Amino acid sequence: MDSQRQALKGVAKDVSKKIGSSATIGLGSGSTVAALLEELSPLLIAGSKKVGGVATSSQIELVAARCGVPLVSFRGSVDLAVDGADQIDAGLNLVKGGGGALLKEKIVMSGAKEIAIVAAEKKFARRLCEDGVRVPIEVAPVARESAKVRLSKLGGVPEERLLPKGYPYFTENGNVILDTMFEPVDDPRALEQKLKSVPGVVEVGIFTFKPITVYKLRDDGGYEALTRSD
Ligand code: A5P
Repeated sequence: MDSQRQALKGVAKDVSKKIGSSATIGLGSGSTVAALLEELSPLLIAGSKKVGGVATSSQIELVAARCGVPLVSFRGSVDLAVDGADQIDAGLNLVKGGGGALLKEKIVMSGAKEIAIVAAEKKFARRLCEDGVRVPIEVAPVARESAKVRLSKLGGVPEERLLPKGYPYFTENGNVILDTMFEPVDDPRALEQKLKSVPGVVEVGIFTFKPITVYKLRDDGGYEALTRSD
């Protein structure tokens, strides 16, 4: 078994303790949360926990179906949101949206009573946007060029996400993504707000929700639970 999978087994046990006998769980997207769900679902079944999952993309919908987790619609809140991240800073702020699911992920996370993020050790940095990590910004197609100009004025270097053969990438909401490079970020909340004020920007892949628990999956197969309340 690889070390990430071994760490996720431990995390799944921890996360299952956060889940009551009946709960709604926000299911983020990506490969890490998919693997977590595979480890978590047998524990939920063994504990006879009645769980409804709120999916943030068709990717995680497929995983939930495979794991026997029934899906429910989002009614404004979930007991727990589980998700992955592309980068985590020292204040446990996140860059998300590498898979293009940031809009639903942010909506569902904003309604979560508790948040649990899982991410490999290599994704941790002191500040967001270090090591060339870019911020995915979801933009209405009509604003793809005007938003690029505005984002450049805010210090960004935006680039439209494309599919391998050069076709535009469209999110499940029919928007495009501008993957935008910034200097390492000192104030993620301020940057998130500035970017959101650009006309045509639908959502920004900077997540600053608190309180939050982030499970760091160590390369040696262990894990650490990091928490931050403000
Ligand atoms: C989906 O759009 C993203 O926010 C993912 O949660 C993020 O990209 C992490 O994905 P992986 O776990 O696949 O690295």
